[in-house]
Amino acid sequence: MDKDILDKKFVPYLNEAKITEAVSRIASSINADYEDKMPLFIAILNGAFMFAADLYKEINVPSEISFVKLSSYAGTQSSGSVITSIGLDVAINARDIIIIEDIVDTGKTLTTFVTELKKEGPSSIRVCALLHKQEATIHPIPIDYLGFTIPNLFVVGYGLDYNGFGRNLKGIHQLKES
Ligand code: IMP
Repeated sequence: MDKDILDKKFVPYLNEAKITEAVSRIASSINADYEDKMPLFIAILNGAFMFAADLYKEINVPSEISFVKLSSYAGTQSSGSVITSIGLDVAINARDIIIIEDIVDTGKTLTTFVTELKKEGPSSIRVCALLHKQEATIHPIPIDYLGFTIPNLFVVGYGLDYNGFGRNLKGIHQLKES
């Protein structure tokens, strides 16, 4: 069903079942890859909160999770700048880090964040993202665990917002082209 959010219309794109399937697939890969490790998950707020919660419930290796807040978006356009507003409360040094991100668009947020994290001396850093707008790439970054590659269209739901709204939708909806 179409959704009106503020001044825009959105159409269904990925339903709950597809998302759940992707979350389980990603969790299985991480569980296998980190069998004898104790990774530290770092989820990027606000957008990744729902994905991180669902994914983390499926993780069965000893691990920790922490949250950071970064931002590169205003409205439906990337502003291109990354601001760190909440720092990490767990030491990164010698840890195996798995970053959890909702969506990789230009790649600016993640490349900047990974550069910052590397300064803290982690053993390894891997990236896990639910969505990737491959065509929008400006700053290429390897995504080790990915849910879906999507077209370069604005999406909301499952944690993702349009100007703060729409995060509570259970599925992911795409901006309706007029
Ligand atoms: P990047 O730095 O250009 O890769 O942008 C990544 C960030 O922008 C994500 O963490 C999201 O918060 C936000 N973002 C990118 N595309 C969308 C979208 O289609 N809907 C909602 N937020 C988005």
